[in-house]
Amino acid sequence: MRKRIVAGNWKMNNTLDEGLALASEVVNMVNDEVTDDVMAILCTPFIHLAQVSKITAESDKVFLAAQNVSEHAAGAYTGDISVAMLKSVGATHVVLGHSERRAYHNETNAQLAARVDISLAGGLLPIFCCGEALETRESGKHEAFVTNQLKESLFHLTAEEMLKVVVAYEPIWAIGTGVTASTAQAQEMHKAIRAFLAEKYGDAVASEISILYGGSAKPSNAPELFSQPDVDGGLIGGAALKARDFVDIIKSY
Ligand code: PGA
Repeated sequence: MRKRIVAGNWKMNNTLDEGLALASEVVNMVNDEVTDDVMAILCTPFIHLAQVSKITAESDKVFLAAQNVSEHAAGAYTGDISVAMLKSVGATHVVLGHSERRAYHNETNAQLAARVDISLAGGLLPIFCCGEALETRESGKHEAFVTNQLKESLFHLTAEEMLKVVVAYEPIWAIGTGVTASTAQAQEMHKAIRAFLAEKYGDAVASEISILYGGSAKPSNAPELFSQPDVDGGLIGGAALKARDFVDIIKSY
């Protein structure tokens, strides 16, 4: 059975104190209220990780992710953070290829492939983001665009490695805009992504890979999105900044 995962991407929000308070609230609520088999992941800014990991250690359901990692192991890369550093502060996952990083830092599919590799080699599990811009969807090329992102960044992996990757489909036009993909649009793309994974790795592998939806997910729309057969959870931005909303989304299953 593939895992159900709800990851909260804090992006560049929260001072250290605010982040610690939010993490504590989330962990307490999850411990008190979440009985289903759902994995929650807090994707915090780098500076929060070391201390938030002590809080997430209080729950067997809550894990910790960084929002990016260097493709280099160590050395003269000012401002970058390595896999070993992230592991040393308790991160279990890393978000790779978020559309904001692709747009503002020109991250390419090839560079992301290298980050996927170094993460897996170091025992950090990638949450690999893909998704199309509005123009691409309007031109009807969204499926080809997204499958190409997967092909160029992931398809060099062995099946065993691929099974460690979580895919997050995040249509750029739905991120932070309040416009959510319709349930049908989300399911259609998730199904296409899974079929594409199956072409390369076979049905047995594809059916084990969690595919998360991201883009203006909130407590009011999460139950319907998560009811879709190929939607295995969410990557939540804005709504992850409020513990109540985030935990309500976790409880949407
Ligand atoms: P949003 O962000 O939920 O605020 O739309 C999602 C994301 O970028 O991961």
